[in-house]
Amino acid sequence: MPKVITKYVCQNCGYVSPRWTGKCPNCNEWNSFVEEAPVPARVARKSGSVASKLEPVPLTQVDGHEEARFVTGMSEFDRVLGGGIVAGSVILLGGDPGIGKSTLMMQVALMLKEKIVLYITGEESLKQIKLRADRLGQHSASVLLLPETNLELIIEIIERGSPELIIVDSIQTMFRPDLESAPGSVGQVREATGLLTRIAKTKNIPMFLVGHVTKEGVIAGPRVIEHMVDTVLQFEGEQHYSYRILRATKNRFGSTNEIGIFEMHDNGMREVKNPSEVFLSERAYGTSGSTIVASMEGTRPILIEVQALVTTTSYGLPQRTATGFDLRRLQMLLAVLEKRGGLNLGTQDVFVNVAGGIRIDEPAADLGIAASIVSSLRDVPADSQTVAVGEIGLGGEIRTVSHSERRVQEAAKLGFKRIVVPKNNIKHVKQSKGGIEIIGVESITEALKELLG
Ligand code: TYD
Ligand code: MG
Repeated sequence: MPKVITKYVCQNCGYVSPRWTGKCPNCNEWNSFVEEAPVPARVARKSGSVASKLEPVPLTQVDGHEEARFVTGMSEFDRVLGGGIVAGSVILLGGDPGIGKSTLMMQVALMLKEKIVLYITGEESLKQIKLRADRLGQHSASVLLLPETNLELIIEIIERGSPELIIVDSIQTMFRPDLESAPGSVGQVREATGLLTRIAKTKNIPMFLVGHVTKEGVIAGPRVIEHMVDTVLQFEGEQHYSYRILRATKNRFGSTNEIGIFEMHDNGMREVKNPSEVFLSERAYGTSGSTIVASMEGTRPILIEVQALVTTTSYGLPQRTATGFDLRRLQMLLAVLEKRGGLNLGTQDVFVNVAGGIRIDEPAADLGIAASIVSSLRDVPADSQTVAVGEIGLGGEIRTVSHSERRVQEAAKLGFKRIVVPKNNIKHVKQSKGGIEIIGVESITEALKELLG
């Protein structure tokens, strides 16, 4: 009998080791190795014959036409994809459980009235899906449901029918019966993705794969499949807010900078087309510790309120908490404020919150955060008609930001009177933009004077 050689695969990153190890040398995850039997060679060969038909093509002879796309009509969704769904592309949609992935997918399916959509579900029963569609208040005979997880049967049905879009909810429940490992393991998910990707490409059917995200924020276990698909979308949001943000972290057919903003309602996800107005609608006027920043989300500027609360530490170490902002960046800003701004924050608890459940990842929000902190510390409200933009360097200098012109435009559009920007950005911004006063600053002290008086 031939010796069966098994391998151990890290369920977090896909690293392969010949023997079991407690800690993965690649991603440092503990207890993540699971034994997997190798795929029998004939199975691998049987399904991998596409390459043999290929011939190398000179670059000049490649058809350079734009890929055929179709739009869903949900403009926030289309924009994140780069202008619609590309034929034959495979899109991975990741997100925490309960964030609304299935809801979004069902809405997309229902939007495409003219297309035959095959919705393969491995998680919910037909009844549950029907109940969701009832909630969305829409039905469509062109959405075909298939409650199945066995890929052999699924592939057969895809081959037999002629779906124009396939949704697989979720990839972690799909399995190849010829593999021994359990559904959801790295081996299965990778093989399932490979199989589905191949059929999407050969039949030129666009396909969405829904994937769960682990607590670390990576698509459960199989980081490996992110390489196999064309586009990776992340659906994010804070649990207690109804806003949801759709972000592309990889996109072969578009930019990865665009985001789509949605709001979860009783009857499904609704697009948010004027995010600044929405995010500013609940702001508190006249209280200390609140500043408006103009943050770029993709190519779109959004005005967001950043809040800070600074209170004297009652005992022990001072606390630093950040929601929607990087905690390390906050600690750096506090250090700069101490050293360059001459403030004493060592005995203060500092809480920072980006309102609306949004996450700001760009340093241009630094100045707004610093201003909120100082405003709360001194208990002096920042001017409610002023927007702050600028990255803060370790020397307390205000550094140039990208897209200053668009940020200023957005602030002007929403009726703000002043905007504080890095001095070096001033030359890129035409003065008198819709009557907004543009103030250039060089240092944190100067900026705080402008913002807080
Ligand atoms: P779901 O799409 O099932 O999430 P996922 O597939 O990402 O796990 O959505 C789950 C949540 O959304 C659930 O808590 C109910 C809520 N929801 C609404 O608030 N409004 C709606 O119209 C629908 C369909 C769901
Ligand atoms: Mg779901």
